[in-house]
Amino acid sequence: MRGNLIIKNAAQLVTCSGFNAKQGKAMSNLHVIENGALVIENGTICSVGKTDDILKDFNDKKNTGKFNVIDAAGKAVLPGFVDSHTHLVFEGYRAEEFSWRLRGDSYMDILKSGGGIFNTVKATRAAKTENLIKTGMRRLNSMLSFGVTTVEGKSGYGLDRNTEIKQLEVMAELNRRHPVDVVSTFLGAHALPEEYKGRTDAYIDYMINTVLPEIIHRNLAEFCDVFCEKNVFSVQQSKRLLLKAKEKGFKIKIHADEIEQLGGTELAAEIGAVSADHLLQASDKGIGAIAKAGVVATLLPGTAFCLKEPYARGRYMIDNNCAVALATDFNPGSCYSESIPLIFALATLYMNLSIEEAITALTINGAAALGRADTIGSLNTGKTGDAVILKYPSYHFIPYHVGINTVEKVIKKGELVYDDPLLKFNAV
Ligand code: NIG
Ligand code: FE
Repeated sequence: MRGNLIIKNAAQLVTCSGFNAKQGKAMSNLHVIENGALVIENGTICSVGKTDDILKDFNDKKNTGKFNVIDAAGKAVLPGFVDSHTHLVFEGYRAEEFSWRLRGDSYMDILKSGGGIFNTVKATRAAKTENLIKTGMRRLNSMLSFGVTTVEGKSGYGLDRNTEIKQLEVMAELNRRHPVDVVSTFLGAHALPEEYKGRTDAYIDYMINTVLPEIIHRNLAEFCDVFCEKNVFSVQQSKRLLLKAKEKGFKIKIHADEIEQLGGTELAAEIGAVSADHLLQASDKGIGAIAKAGVVATLLPGTAFCLKEPYARGRYMIDNNCAVALATDFNPGSCYSESIPLIFALATLYMNLSIEEAITALTINGAAALGRADTIGSLNTGKTGDAVILKYPSYHFIPYHVGINTVEKVIKKGELVYDDPLLKFNAV
């Protein structure tokens, strides 16, 4: 699937131009071209600029009929969004847990009493692969409708060799079947399974000696992640697993300082993680360290919102030169939402990011959090032709039309893969 497409007359072509993570002040510049056009040839962006200039080059005889054309007059065009932290493959739902939390139970108490992640583990271990693929496809459809063209997905609902591998195989299959690209992360150290109660180090050994080698052998994941949290995996245990994974060629992510300040942020800087995620309780020292080390700070405001926890200090991080990415953390427990509009609303209204910073965080910095800033996340020549066309003329409408999907069309590798089905009623 690789198309030839010209998008012309865009009121704003929001290029987010760049090939690396943007840190601090650089997050504010979106490199917007007014009345812009974009040409995608065989799935790859080959030209970006003012519509008049681009059409001069591409309207000659030899190109007639070769390109599909979309007239984006009165509309803003952006790079496809990159949702760089989700747990999208799982069986079963935890609606009851949401009600318990409304009553006052805490996320960690529910986990400690054997619910939470363990509920999803039980259901996912028993799940048929076909069913995980079916629900995964539906979730990807929903993400695509919000403009997501690349998503990261984690294992971590197996906590045993077979189910971790089953989840990763499902993600590989989703990547093959669905237009949204799926980047896989191994999160075997997501919780300590009942079988290993009181033997956390032995579980880390099991991950290192039995599960990791199989994942490498079958090339099933690009990243390795750990839930580094009080009463889950300590900084030392996380470090041991992640260093081993790094040595074997994995890129590293860490669920760091989410509920308690443990030092996962500092660890991310120390071991050269690609991203440190959550960071609600990250210390000033940790934030300084990841800014210096170039670790992307991936913030997940939907989770803080759902757990009624304080938001990560996004404003402070950008002011202190971090590269911030935003993601949904879509999962069946702490944040059952794939809504990009919700993330924009929370990031701008409650984390004090500017609209420009939030867009950078969901495009080029999301791409950087997946080690892909050189190929996706911006509208630059040579990058994959992934773009979003809004219903409105300016990117300012994204958080302004609060909680509502402003995406009209989504382009993946030069092909139109989503077109708002309700548009057909506009003519009536
Ligand atoms: O990112 N914090 C740990 N893991 C997920 C939630 C997983 C779940 O509750 O199922 C998170 O919030
Ligand atoms: Fe997560």
